[in-house]
Amino acid sequence: MPAPHEVLGVARDADEERIRSAYRDRVLESHPDHGGSPAEFRRVRTAYESLAGEGRSPAPDAESTADEQGPRSPWDPSIQWTTDEDDHSPPEPQRRDPHTVEYVDYEVLSDHGWAITDDDLFEKASEAGLDPGDYGRFQIDPGDSLLEGAEEVGFTWPFSCRGGACANCAVAVVDGSLSQPVSHILPEELTDEGIRLSCVGQPVTDDLRVVYNVKHLPGVEDLLLPPGPYKRASSDD
Ligand code: FES
Repeated sequence: MPAPHEVLGVARDADEERIRSAYRDRVLESHPDHGGSPAEFRRVRTAYESLAGEGRSPAPDAESTADEQGPRSPWDPSIQWTTDEDDHSPPEPQRRDPHTVEYVDYEVLSDHGWAITDDDLFEKASEAGLDPGDYGRFQIDPGDSLLEGAEEVGFTWPFSCRGGACANCAVAVVDGSLSQPVSHILPEELTDEGIRLSCVGQPVTDDLRVVYNVKHLPGVEDLLLPPGPYKRASSDD
């Protein structure tokens, strides 16, 4: 079986940026709708996860570290403690309260002359009488991705691969924090602007404000895959 760096076509000592760039190219080539196959698509993803995992560990955003969230008392009733008879290290707290997500559809912004960077974007959206599909709030269980949470309450937000390999499910995080696993395709310029992937990102903060459906933002469009067909192709594999 080819080594991960051979699957991506990079040298053994390739740096992180080179690996990420090769991954983006290989994702597009291997996608079933671009002449590839679901099996090849998965092989490319596995190779990237393997190489990316050598240098970094999956973790929430730096901005959501425990230090910044502040210490939590072990008597806090919102914390569930795990138990393991063979493990005497301090237990990790497990959240059980749902997160609240407030969302607005990127497509309604231009209709109203709004921008993602408007300080009062969500206040304006809340007063504009938008349809529930365009603006609103929902709650999401801890451990669910943002996309899963939206689907749970009946929304059909955009997606394609559901695995961090495209940008069809991208959202702009305006307030709060959405985790960003290591195996994602977004370049640093976009993550610096608050763009995250809803299919693999889980809310970290109690409240989250996002603009979803941002696939036509500059830089995001280049990473799109055809919507949906990967799911259909996979079921035929
Ligand atoms: S990264 Fe492809 S659907 Fe989320």
